[in-house]
Amino acid sequence: MVFNVERIREDFPILKRQVNGKPLVYLDNAATSQTPQQVIDVIVDYYSNYNANIHRGVHSLSQEATDAYEQARIKIQNHFNAQHPYEIIFTSGTTHGINLVANGFASLLVKGDEIIVSALEHHSNIVPWQMLCEKTGATLKVIPMNLEGELVLSEYDALLNENTKLVFVNHISNALGTINPIEQIINKAHSVGAAVLIDGAQACPHLKPDVQQLDVDFYVCSAHKICGPTGIGMLYGKEEWLKKLPPYQGGGEMIAEVSFEKTTYADLPHKFEAGTPNVCGGIAFGAAVDYMNKIGFENIAKYENGLLEYATIELLQIEGLKIYGTSTNKTSVISFNVNNIHPYDLGTLLDKMGIALRTGHHCAQPIMDFYKIPGTVRASFMFYNTKEEIDVFVAALKKSIMMLS
Ligand code: ALA
Repeated sequence: MVFNVERIREDFPILKRQVNGKPLVYLDNAATSQTPQQVIDVIVDYYSNYNANIHRGVHSLSQEATDAYEQARIKIQNHFNAQHPYEIIFTSGTTHGINLVANGFASLLVKGDEIIVSALEHHSNIVPWQMLCEKTGATLKVIPMNLEGELVLSEYDALLNENTKLVFVNHISNALGTINPIEQIINKAHSVGAAVLIDGAQACPHLKPDVQQLDVDFYVCSAHKICGPTGIGMLYGKEEWLKKLPPYQGGGEMIAEVSFEKTTYADLPHKFEAGTPNVCGGIAFGAAVDYMNKIGFENIAKYENGLLEYATIELLQIEGLKIYGTSTNKTSVISFNVNNIHPYDLGTLLDKMGIALRTGHHCAQPIMDFYKIPGTVRASFMFYNTKEEIDVFVAALKKSIMMLS
């Protein structure tokens, strides 16, 4: 498909609305992406025509819903190049996927085992592992970061040893946009026999991970970051690991046989999908993956890199503006502060001018502590943003700075 941003913007009804009397400039894409009409139509079609519980009914609606849900799983399998559809577990989102794996490892770890995370993690990839350490007596170690917002890999080498059982790193930092060298991180972890989970929440909007090529053990993401709905995501796990881990939740759907004496569990993927799933969400997740692939990830990366470069140059012309996260290997996320102005004050004034972005610690307090700041203003761009929107944003930012200085 030829990349035409004006044509693409037509797909997103929300981009036509006004906020506080001004045209919306939506630059909070790292928090959640917007939804194209093609995905909205799939949601409306589901509830209008074939809403039913799945894997249970003999009736036609249930069959149709089951087929569409399982087709979506296959779309997601193909997108991530998983070997089998049953290696894709539907979750409620990235956080659910991480907790599922952390909970499973509680029965596999013992005191003295070591877990490695990175200094660039979102709280959702820190807290579940701290809870796991409390339960098992394992120790948490941290790969440090440098001022550019990159991981210091030589320190990672020093942390790895025969006690390392798990390594958890995000593919891309939500707060800074740094793309982490996950191939190297995975290879080094495997050389000491450790399993690796990659948090792909911020990577999936910008690139297409190949889980077999990466040889990653677990990969998690959320549909709402890639033009799908909230409340649905996926955990990819290698078959051998998913077989080894115990179920996360008990209930219907995840069982083979139940009696008061003994319960046996269903095969993959159902073993990890207790209860009525988010059927519509799963189907819409599949539609979102179709939509992104139609635009094409090469087109997306090229266009978004252009936006990142343009916005970085424009922002750096503002006196007193400092960007956090200056790796040459980053995606279209810009975190910044201006002099001593509180990020919240800038965000509030920008909202009055129709500009949506995120302020605060971005659920990554250790990164803010590293830079000794309370938080940042974060502008994050998707393929439907334009240079004209960046101009509006920069002009509004200059006006806000004048008002606050
Ligand atoms: N994790 C999301 C963000 O970075 C919510 O904004």
